[in-house]
Amino acid sequence: MSEIIKVTKSKEETMSLGRELATKLPDGITITLTGDLGAGKTTFVRGLAEGLHIKEVVQSPTFNIMKIYLKGDRPLIHIDAYRLADIDTDIGLDEYIGYETGITVIEWPMFISKLIPSDSIELEITNLGGDNRQIKFKSKDDSLLEMVK
Ligand SMILES: Nc1ncnc2c1ncn2[C@@H]1O[C@H](COP(=O)(O)OP(=O)(O)OP(=O)(O)O)[C@@H](O)[C@H]1O
Ligand SMILES: [Mg+2]
Repeated sequence: MSEIIKVTKSKEETMSLGRELATKLPDGITITLTGDLGAGKTTFVRGLAEGLHIKEVVQSPTFNIMKIYLKGDRPLIHIDAYRLADIDTDIGLDEYIGYETGITVIEWPMFISKLIPSDSIELEITNLGGDNRQIKFKSKDDSLLEMVK
């Protein structure tokens, strides 16, 4: 597992990381996002959405579990598994993870760990205080990390 660490100093910088990555990601990729409440997971997804030219505002999907944006360059599937903790029911999310040309992003992946593909990019966001965030990118596939550089 290789990793790349970046530090952002504002939410705009975190969004621009997502925006730049959006154009480089392969079809069907899964990105997992871990980090405390308010770390910046959804902010990163907003950047990805901008990079895909999705005009809809990306909301935190905590109350939806999943939201699919189809009106951009490629589909964006945004899953927030937070409320699936302790629920052992198959709700068919696996149909959308790695969906065709789409990019799937998953907040709180630990709650659906069995569904996470091994060739994903893992992002860990840590609040360093103030508006500073450490963003660690990890992947078993080095070629995926090349895109982050
Ligand atoms: N460098 C930064 N990167 C990202 N967000 C930042 C940064 N600095 C400040 N923020 C602020 O931190 C908050 C991040 O909220 P966000 O909804 O993205 O977090 P989250 O990790 O998705 O939380 P939750 O687990 O509740 O879904 C926003 O209010 C954002 O403006
Ligand atoms: Mg969120």
